[in-house]
Amino acid sequence: MIRENALTTDEYRWSIGDVEIAGPLVLGPMAGFTSPALRILCRRAGAHLVYSEMVAAQGIKHRNRKTFALLRTFDQEQPVAVQIFGGDPEIMADAVPFVEKAGAAIIDINMGCPVPKVLRSEGGAALMYDAERAVAIAAAVAERATVPVTCKIRAGVILGDSSYLDLALRLQDAGVAAVAIHGRTVKQGYCGDADHAHTKALVQALDIPVIASGDVFSPKLPASIIDDTGCAGVMIARGAVGRPWIFSQAKDVLAGREPSADPAPGTRMGIALCQAQMMALEIDEARAVHKMRAHLAWYTKGLPGGKRLRGAFNTIQSLGDMRGLMHDYVDYLAAKDVEPPPERAK
Ligand SMILES: Cc1cc2nc3c(=O)[nH]c(=O)nc-3n(C[C@H](O)[C@H](O)[C@H](O)COP(=O)(O)O)c2cc1C
Repeated sequence: MIRENALTTDEYRWSIGDVEIAGPLVLGPMAGFTSPALRILCRRAGAHLVYSEMVAAQGIKHRNRKTFALLRTFDQEQPVAVQIFGGDPEIMADAVPFVEKAGAAIIDINMGCPVPKVLRSEGGAALMYDAERAVAIAAAVAERATVPVTCKIRAGVILGDSSYLDLALRLQDAGVAAVAIHGRTVKQGYCGDADHAHTKALVQALDIPVIASGDVFSPKLPASIIDDTGCAGVMIARGAVGRPWIFSQAKDVLAGREPSADPAPGTRMGIALCQAQMMALEIDEARAVHKMRAHLAWYTKGLPGGKRLRGAFNTIQSLGDMRGLMHDYVDYLAAKDVEPPPERAK
């Protein structure tokens, strides 16, 4: 269905503090996934803003080499929000100059991650239980930063808990320039559906922009979430893994067009190879090839012979092996004259 009240691209422009964002489509932060390679691909596909994975403020304090590797950003991905986590206001604020030096256009504070490593730092979702600490961290980071500071929160601790509204208001007062909300509670983790009624409640409560996050797997959803909630941005996280072109499809919908079809298998392989090559420039080839396995599992989802292809990808050691397998696969499809996979853009 064509969206009747489609806005022009200009009408979707917004800003976070003084950083102008050309449209509403945002690549959400994902630990282990949103490295510069995926961020650059998503920007090229049409994402208007991209988030790094979370980076430990403690790691920055201890000048940890691996932590600093996670901070790297590139001109091609700007504007990029670099997300930090931690539970100590001073350590979080001390991380700011390093994050800015690494090229962050925006600094985001993780207030929603429920994994034990992050909870132990008293950061991430632990801050949803401790508004005082959350606000102290936001104030300290905003005070030190020369770039805008944002927070990514959950929709409360348990279902029915609306304390996130009060927390977000206090974050706004503390100098935060935008809030992203994953529409699930901390206790829900990833169970149940994300509820964007919380996004709407936040939009109504705050003067700063709100970004919706949760279950955006269809390119048609950003437009409808914006219509339903009035939010400024919509994050796509899991839906962009092995599928960066979802951003160009979502842009089609925002412009009032039907989303273009998913790329043909050969093109998908080319995009995946491009990601792997960029990753090999960021880290080393062996690690890039290993890390790409998780991405390739998604790039091959729904493709004819995808299961066998995934098995084969899990044994490769080099970019050359990857390229060879991809060529063989495309030849196999051509020889069999296999129908292209069914379109996933629903
Ligand atoms: C593998 C994985 C890693 C994630 N890492 C982060 C993270 O580092 N920081 C964060 O704020 N959220 C993180 N998230 C949460 C996502 O940003 C997003 O809010 C959540 O997955 C819901 O959106 P989606 O349904 O579009 O994936 C992660 C999610 C996944 C699946």
